[in-house]
Amino acid sequence: MEKITISVIKADIGGYVGHSSMHPNIMSKAIQILDKHKEKGTLVDFHVTHCGDDLELIMSHRLGCDAQEIHKLSWDTFVECTNLAKEMKLYGAGQDLLSDAFSGNVKGMGPGVAEMEIEERKSEPVIIFAADKTSPGAWNMPLYKMFADPFNTIGLVIDPSMHQGFTLEILDIFGNKTVKMNSPEDIYDILCLIGASEHYIVNRVYKKTGEIAAVTSSQKLNLLAGRYVGKDDPVMIVRSQSGFPAVGEVLEPFSMPHMVSGWMRGSHWGPFMPVSVEDANPTRFDGPPRVIALGFQITNGAFIGPRDMFADLSYDLARKQANEIANYIRRHGPFEPHRLPLSDMEYTTLPHVLKKLKDKFK
Ligand code: F6R
Ligand code: MG
Ligand code: MG
Repeated sequence: MEKITISVIKADIGGYVGHSSMHPNIMSKAIQILDKHKEKGTLVDFHVTHCGDDLELIMSHRLGCDAQEIHKLSWDTFVECTNLAKEMKLYGAGQDLLSDAFSGNVKGMGPGVAEMEIEERKSEPVIIFAADKTSPGAWNMPLYKMFADPFNTIGLVIDPSMHQGFTLEILDIFGNKTVKMNSPEDIYDILCLIGASEHYIVNRVYKKTGEIAAVTSSQKLNLLAGRYVGKDDPVMIVRSQSGFPAVGEVLEPFSMPHMVSGWMRGSHWGPFMPVSVEDANPTRFDGPPRVIALGFQITNGAFIGPRDMFADLSYDLARKQANEIANYIRRHGPFEPHRLPLSDMEYTTLPHVLKKLKDKFK
């Protein structure tokens, strides 16, 4: 069976208006460019979308993960879109492109990357998630629920092809080390780590057979740049059905708008609101943080879809709840726990203000 690679590579290359959304001309530009790469045969297929001010290139190809050619064409696409964004004076044009020259892989250069190489099954349903105004730790709780929590995923209990559980690879973003842990055997240890979602991030999930099940983008822009350059606005790819969680089990965690860090100036906790692509334009206090889910059937590498999975009215209550939580927590204004704790504010603009106060202490 021939292998296919799904690469989701994203960047904020300029917002419309402010940091709230993506100008349609930028999307058209990206589509035009990727179309050429599809004609040439480098890409098998692609889909361009956005979540808030982030441009998401969803691509399939046969070159494997970390393929220089794919990373280069993504980088070049972001550069061309940035040029257009600059011409249009869109906001924060080129925000995520931290380097002037491409050096072989977009990792560490600003864009977020989630890639998996798979052997396409008889039928291959995949859900691609994209978020705005939050960080990669936002995926921790949903991934735990999908792959390790029987109260979310009944398949773990009653489907013999899932009953043995999954393996989670967890990244310590400060130590830059990973650890693999098994569910259900190690769930208490897993939760010790991933409950601290600004420190430990679920990077990948595997079946116990070693088959890839899910992958997230785990680049921390703040750590890369050493200064605040916006939140990481992560993406994630999840395979589903036939031994993986069912589509409904993959989406179920988002029925609870859990608290994630990000929102205004990347400095606040707020509810993670599942929305349709049409509603992926965070405006209230630059938020609240949002997540979209695009469902595809991958067919000989082609993307059949997307289905806009959160455009479903069964997520109305989650949205209502998210807005109620947003209302409540907003009333804390600049106070914790709405504002992030000082340790997490280290990479925001706050330290510049604190520096000025230092000498006033006697
Ligand atoms: C959060 C985000 C926005 C900006 C805010 C201030 O990830 O991008 O909330 O932090 O709009 O933006 P600047 O500093 O560009 O005026
Ligand atoms: Mg932005
Ligand atoms: Mg963004």
